[in-house]
Amino acid sequence: MENGSVILIRRWPAMLCWLLLCLVPLTNQQQARAGNVGTTQWSDDETHFNRTLDSILVPRVVGSRGHQQVRDYLVQSLNGLGFQTEVDKFKQRVPVLGELTFSNVVGTINPQAQNFLALACHYDSKYFPNDPGFVGATDSAVPCAILLNTAKTLSGYLQKQFQNRNDLGLMLIFFDGEEAFKDWTETDSVYGSKHLASKLARTRSGAQVAGKQAPRNIDRIEVLVLLDLIGARNPKFSSFYMNTHGLHSSLVQIEMNLRAAGKLEGNNNMFLNQISGGLVDDDHRPFLEDNVPVLHLVSTPFPDVWHTPRDNAANLHWPSIRNFNRVFRSFVYEYLHRHTAPVNLRYY
Ligand SMILES: *[C@@H]1O[C@H](CO)[C@@H](O)[C@H](O)[C@H]1NC(C)=O
Ligand SMILES: [Zn+2]
Repeated sequence: MENGSVILIRRWPAMLCWLLLCLVPLTNQQQARAGNVGTTQWSDDETHFNRTLDSILVPRVVGSRGHQQVRDYLVQSLNGLGFQTEVDKFKQRVPVLGELTFSNVVGTINPQAQNFLALACHYDSKYFPNDPGFVGATDSAVPCAILLNTAKTLSGYLQKQFQNRNDLGLMLIFFDGEEAFKDWTETDSVYGSKHLASKLARTRSGAQVAGKQAPRNIDRIEVLVLLDLIGARNPKFSSFYMNTHGLHSSLVQIEMNLRAAGKLEGNNNMFLNQISGGLVDDDHRPFLEDNVPVLHLVSTPFPDVWHTPRDNAANLHWPSIRNFNRVFRSFVYEYLHRHTAPVNLRYY
């Protein structure tokens, strides 16, 4: 992950923005109809969160024993939560460490559905020659634990009402090899995500309509929600992409509603109703380049422990983690629950 090169967001014609905002599932109208969006009660399961985080929070550089253990743990956990799980495995030569075997882990509920909500994080930890103990708590053990905890706390819904829907499936993606082995460049970074995006772009499945080819699998992703650098004190999340700004606004709204209902701790507003002046390069790059709408939930500025030995359990901020879990869980539930027709946020 890096924000060294700040790219200005392109300006979109105002008309286009209005059009796109109308297409997001949580419009103001719907919110008014449904009352207090986001305050539906889904209980925390922090025992599960802690157990999950403990299992992920080990050094897990690609190719290491810890990496293999965490990968197996992710597969097991997804299966236990009712996901159909696939491992996208491939070999590639990288700087410094030579040839490595990478494995993206992808869990899906309703794999036959027409479209998907995809939630993602990276599970590899960064290789530091002088710090073999680096565990990357915010980068990205906590984001991965949040994804599994979201599935766990919503499992009553996911494994009953949500099952067997044809319009929408839920995909949890644990990318491998996000981190650079030497210096962050387009080639030395996001190895797993490049591989998975190109595989999804080459394969087709799903419904064929009126003699047309089945859609490319990558085009079945309605939005890729990427979590990164979460777990430090008082994070701030800005909106990065115009086509998912409406979804970002629903996070702002859900946080406000939960706070008003007394369901959040402290008084830090995490989700800013603000468009970021720059972008952060991350696992979403290959998907973005293939026109997949991206909601990038990365805290900016980065946590000050970022890429230091202090990015560990001792420096996590639990009220912020609990608040994020609550807001994010509601957001995922509302997206799935309110989905009635395909959501097309694509730029073209
Ligand atoms: C989870 O771990 C945190 C940090 O150790 C601790 O403060 C919290 O009480 C734990 N929660 C549960 C339910 O054990
Ligand atoms: Zn990193």
